[in-house]
Amino acid sequence: MKSIILAFSALTLAVLPSSKATATDAGAAWWKSGVVYQIYPRSFQDTNGDGVGDLKGITQRLDYLRDLGVDAVWISPFYPSPMKDFGYDVTNFTDVDPRFGTLADFDTLVAEMHKRGLRLVMDFVPNHSSDEHPWFVESRSSKDNPKRDWYMWRDGRSANQPPNNWLSVFSGSAWTYDPTTSQYYYHAFLKEQPDLNWHNAELRAAMLSAMRFWLERGVDGFRIDGISHTMEDAALLDEPADPSYKDTKPEFDKLLHVYTTEQRSNHSIVREMRKLCDQYPGERALITEAYITFEQQAAYYGTPEAPEAQLPFNFHLISADWTAASVAKVVAEYEASLPTHGWPNWVLSNHDKHRLGTRLPQGQARIAAMVLLTLRGTPTLYYADELGMKDVFVPPERAQDPVELKTPGKGFGRDPERAPMMWDATTNAGFTTGTPWLPLEPDYVTLNAEAQDSDPQSMLSLYKSLVKLRRATPALNVGSYKQVAANEDVLAFIREAAGQKFFVALNFTDKISKVALGDLVGRVVFTSVLDQVEQSVAGALELRPNEGVVVRLD
Ligand code: GLC
Repeated sequence: MKSIILAFSALTLAVLPSSKATATDAGAAWWKSGVVYQIYPRSFQDTNGDGVGDLKGITQRLDYLRDLGVDAVWISPFYPSPMKDFGYDVTNFTDVDPRFGTLADFDTLVAEMHKRGLRLVMDFVPNHSSDEHPWFVESRSSKDNPKRDWYMWRDGRSANQPPNNWLSVFSGSAWTYDPTTSQYYYHAFLKEQPDLNWHNAELRAAMLSAMRFWLERGVDGFRIDGISHTMEDAALLDEPADPSYKDTKPEFDKLLHVYTTEQRSNHSIVREMRKLCDQYPGERALITEAYITFEQQAAYYGTPEAPEAQLPFNFHLISADWTAASVAKVVAEYEASLPTHGWPNWVLSNHDKHRLGTRLPQGQARIAAMVLLTLRGTPTLYYADELGMKDVFVPPERAQDPVELKTPGKGFGRDPERAPMMWDATTNAGFTTGTPWLPLEPDYVTLNAEAQDSDPQSMLSLYKSLVKLRRATPALNVGSYKQVAANEDVLAFIREAAGQKFFVALNFTDKISKVALGDLVGRVVFTSVLDQVEQSVAGALELRPNEGVVVRLD
């Protein structure tokens, strides 16, 4: 094969039609053309030595994010919280927990992000508050308290019997008895996370006004936590057993959640939130979190007349088998499920799932980066995946996550994927001068961001180059998608826009694989190995083990 080997830096010259040809120029909204980066704030950067990350730490690291090339940053909750579920148990929806900083730190963070062209997406938790939220403290105080109906209180079925068989996602009954008023309250998650009652108009208004508070402060969007759980069926019937349940799965999976998840009325909440966001300039966006079918996901776009979320999170690749054929199937089914006004998105990991580097066969993390950044749809990248970070081993005595504490040793715990960011080779990877809240693996000494930045073939260099390529290539960020071929070895597809066509081929194996090109002819403009480019290809394309390439077609 005739090959002209160029230094990798030549790639940019070869691909970028013009450094100004960004997707924004192409007219697409930021949530469509951009790359979203998730920060788990406890683990990003600590600036006060308490071993827990903070907002000032994020501000301090913004240049890293700008250099990585991402467009938006979603930050997991930093509201005041007793931290029973690490910030997903909120005691005040319009403030910052002192462990993370102050509202003034938040304002600085927004301003500094906007200065760099970065958008800020807040986490918003509509389903529940903390049991220490003043609303719940009032609500539980008496049956006739004005806030009683802001939560879900019911009588037991009989003495010492909860109202029905509903289960908490985190195990055990979803009902907790409160002796003060001799009633039970409902909680889809921990008993310290009582569910808010969205049927109550005052509660609804209070929650929307909390969103308004952040919109006024300049946030560019919200990631809506646990949307599936927001409404429950009023009849309170028992949920049926799932006949396919196996006891290797969490107890929650014993039941089919027909009355507690995915109720039609959830959509009225998202519609209202969207109406609110649309009152503000600058495309404030909603991203909904739900582990649901493609059909259910599609419904969260709403309709063109009554829109809901811009990006209903798509988690299907997290649970897919990692073969070219099964990934191709997921992509095809997802594409087919989208309403015509719906823009796709892809997520490969987050703070609730084991890290990519741990889930995938060795060598495939680079292919995962290419899948995420070359498919049609907005990618969400989980912090430190760009370093190829793996799950960290957390000894039982250091366990933090409530899921691990409630169901120890089963592998359901989420601490391993929440460990501190690896910045450099200094003590605690430059994350903290104190004792990190979760341990680090000793390999941070070589795998840290600083070391990877100076290695042109590192995982970080791969992510940076891919983000850059995507940003500069309308076909890759907003272009159409056509699957070309897929077998157990190679996923191949064409992305096309603005008169340019790109052929992407990803080798899902650790063996050499060949793809027939038919009459396609072009030049390799990118390889995940980050070495040779500008090779002409015709007839067939040979991929090295675990290699992905992008070919610009003539
Ligand atoms: C979401 C969050 C998860 C949290 C749960 C309860 O699924 O991602 O971390 O525990 O909601 O708020």
